[in-house]
Amino acid sequence: MKLCVFASGSGSNLQALIDAQYSQKLCAEVAAVVSNNESAYALERARCAGISAYHIASQNFERREDFLTSLCRVFDEHNIELIVLAGYLKKLPPEIVQKFANRILNVHPSLLPSFGGKGMHGLAVHRAVLNAGCKVSGATVHIVDERYDTGIIVLQKCVAVLDDDTPETLAARVLTVEHELLPRAVRMFAHDEITICNGRSVYTCL
Ligand code: GRF
Repeated sequence: MKLCVFASGSGSNLQALIDAQYSQKLCAEVAAVVSNNESAYALERARCAGISAYHIASQNFERREDFLTSLCRVFDEHNIELIVLAGYLKKLPPEIVQKFANRILNVHPSLLPSFGGKGMHGLAVHRAVLNAGCKVSGATVHIVDERYDTGIIVLQKCVAVLDDDTPETLAARVLTVEHELLPRAVRMFAHDEITICNGRSVYTCL
């Protein structure tokens, strides 16, 4: 299964996918990486791994359809079957979400539907979790729909919130879980082990 990974920042989740691929645990290939941020370290990680890296940002196109065409050209050139958002801070155009219906995954650093939605990314998520006095947080991999963080949940894993946690220390522990969940979710899709039934993901591998 050919993947296109979208990332805006450091790309540690992308690296987890690349590492899983090279250790034969992903059962898929990261065929292309796209970032809206030309200085994103995620693009450097892709280049180091010999993966096609693209800086494609909507603000660089005068016409919206040219932005869409640029993205679709990547998907077509690399025969993309699954899109993965790994720290991508932009919303995908609805045309792309419809073209890849139920074939776009996102990783989010909380137990959705809690602490999701527009603006809830990075340390803001963990700050909100701590401010709410939660004792448990975690990571979620979900299918992307046309809104932020509202798609069908595929995998989740809990992380204990410690009394002396800061947003940074909690973020670090949740990120470790993201690195575990995202490759596992991709592998389940590659093995066709996920079906969507009544708005919920159902594992067909158990
Ligand atoms: C992760 O915390 C992810 O949950 C969120 O953005 C961050 C991306 O980190 N969507 P990285 O760029 O993969 O290191």
